[in-house]
Amino acid sequence: MTIIAPSLLSADPGRLADEAAAVAAAGAGWLHLDVMDGNFVPNITFGPWIVKTCAKAAGVPLDAHLMVADPLLWGPAFAAEGAHYVSVHAEATAHLHKALASIREKGAKAGVALNPATPLSFLEPVLSCLDLVIVMGVNPGFSGQPYIPETAERVRQASRLIREKGAPILLEVDGGVTDRNAGELVRAGADVLVSGSFLFKSPDKGRAIRELQEAG
Ligand code: DX5
Ligand code: ZN
Repeated sequence: MTIIAPSLLSADPGRLADEAAAVAAAGAGWLHLDVMDGNFVPNITFGPWIVKTCAKAAGVPLDAHLMVADPLLWGPAFAAEGAHYVSVHAEATAHLHKALASIREKGAKAGVALNPATPLSFLEPVLSCLDLVIVMGVNPGFSGQPYIPETAERVRQASRLIREKGAPILLEVDGGVTDRNAGELVRAGADVLVSGSFLFKSPDKGRAIRELQEAG
């Protein structure tokens, strides 16, 4: 079954812990933490302190998506706090192997995220260093942006690349995911779907999670 990872970016900021607990109780498999530094993306969210708060509230694996200009600094910092998956953007560093290794050294699983216009060939040299690939469905920085329709084809190609390698890498789609495109993304090979605005705007979170889980 597809893992659904609600993004706290769309949650009520005054009730983050309660919202984290509520989506976990509603069936979320992971919790997605959007970390923004005001530099790699034009928005700022939270630092490593969020990890312990959310781990305690939600009790599900935490999936930290670092949209930061310095992955070598923040990758290991989030891993050391106890995030299960820590992903950095390929566009943010000239030292991707080093950034991924620094995350694994701190005990977390390592991921790489690709912006919608970044070639998938960026993945090939680092496949053996990866546990997770995030294919972005929007340009990162904000929730609630329209889904870029070319994403499904990119997921299909990334899935093929991972299967050819036979590597145990999960494939995640982040940005613009709704009940309308979830089926296509899962059929293309997505294992994990991040959901921000679709899920948090839904009056029945349990039902919205089930719709995404069962899509495809
Ligand atoms: C975008 C973030 C996404 C976003 C998802 O920068 O990485 O995780 O919050 O929100 P929706 O599902 O509303 O696009
Ligand atoms: Zn994200």
